[in-house]
Amino acid sequence: MIPLEKYSEALSQKLAATVSVKEPEQLYGPVSYIVSLGGKRLRPILTLMSCDFFSGSYEKAMDAAIAVELFHNFSLIHDDIMDNAPLRRGQETVHEKWDINTGILSGDAMLILAYQLFENYEPALFRDLAKLFSKTALQVCEGQQYDVDFETRDDVTLPEYIKMIDYKTAVLIGAAMKMGAIVAGASESCTEHIYDFGRYLGIAFQLQDDYLDAFGNPENFGKQVGGDIIANKKTFLYLTAFQNGSKKQADELVNLFSIEPKDPSDKIETVKRIFQTSGASEATKKEIIHYTEKANQVLEKIDISSENKEALREFGKSLMARTV
Ligand code: IPE
Ligand code: IPE
Ligand code: MG
Ligand code: MG
Ligand code: MG
Repeated sequence: MIPLEKYSEALSQKLAATVSVKEPEQLYGPVSYIVSLGGKRLRPILTLMSCDFFSGSYEKAMDAAIAVELFHNFSLIHDDIMDNAPLRRGQETVHEKWDINTGILSGDAMLILAYQLFENYEPALFRDLAKLFSKTALQVCEGQQYDVDFETRDDVTLPEYIKMIDYKTAVLIGAAMKMGAIVAGASESCTEHIYDFGRYLGIAFQLQDDYLDAFGNPENFGKQVGGDIIANKKTFLYLTAFQNGSKKQADELVNLFSIEPKDPSDKIETVKRIFQTSGASEATKKEIIHYTEKANQVLEKIDISSENKEALREFGKSLMARTV
């Protein structure tokens, strides 16, 4: 087992210092709020771990790790506006607690704060990190746009869905790991492989996020269970249920995903039952394992100790067991 605490304690302190509230409070208050709600801190931990595993000093990757987490938190504030989500990390979302304009501007500020942290690196590293960051951030925007476009489309294919989640979620996890490798001065082939590892893990991660959105426990999930169903999101669950279910189930799904009832509880219950009886839930679980295995295969090509490879495999395994 890798002692993740060594990363998370250092991270928490640095994060808190980066988002301390100053004037104007309406701008920085929400920044501090969302960050103080915590979350799993998966991405920055992967940045530090990756740097460490490629024999760098993980403290040197701290600014990049914080930048990735700030970017992630920015994307959550804006995502919750776009998804009309009431709950985040067990608390009110920023736009619910304040308002939409506050969410937009505080999110913007976080994105810029994230960029600013790369200024702490020497010019060559700054260039490499900022370049990767810009490319990744744009892909996240593209993924988010596809996600919203798909809500009102009824001809979304599975490959389109995989590309969408690759962009909105997986590339950031890949980039988080690649940044750690870049800071450590790892070889180009290693930085590319660790990027691919993170990306496959990221696809598995988003598949599971979609699974938990439907089947998570409202007591501890921290987000509105059924939110994706309410918003007519074309997830792997939906697409496989549509593809593998009976004609009757497919028709019912299409019908339910064209309406937005005031009280969505019946819609959520019916859709979840179709997800289960059509075999879509099981297929999703299998797909999560499939992408985690793909990640593990890439690991074989990477030049790090077998102990560290095992630690990364363990990390991937722990993600599959998560309930939040
Ligand atoms: C939520 O990410 C958004 C997705 C890309 C699925 P996380 O599940 O990592 O959220 P936190 O940071 O732990 O709250
Ligand atoms: C989030 O996807 C992706 C980004 C925030 C870029 P989701 O919309 O599924 O994330 P959650 O479920 O709200 O955390
Ligand atoms: Mg969302
Ligand atoms: Mg979303
Ligand atoms: Mg989700």
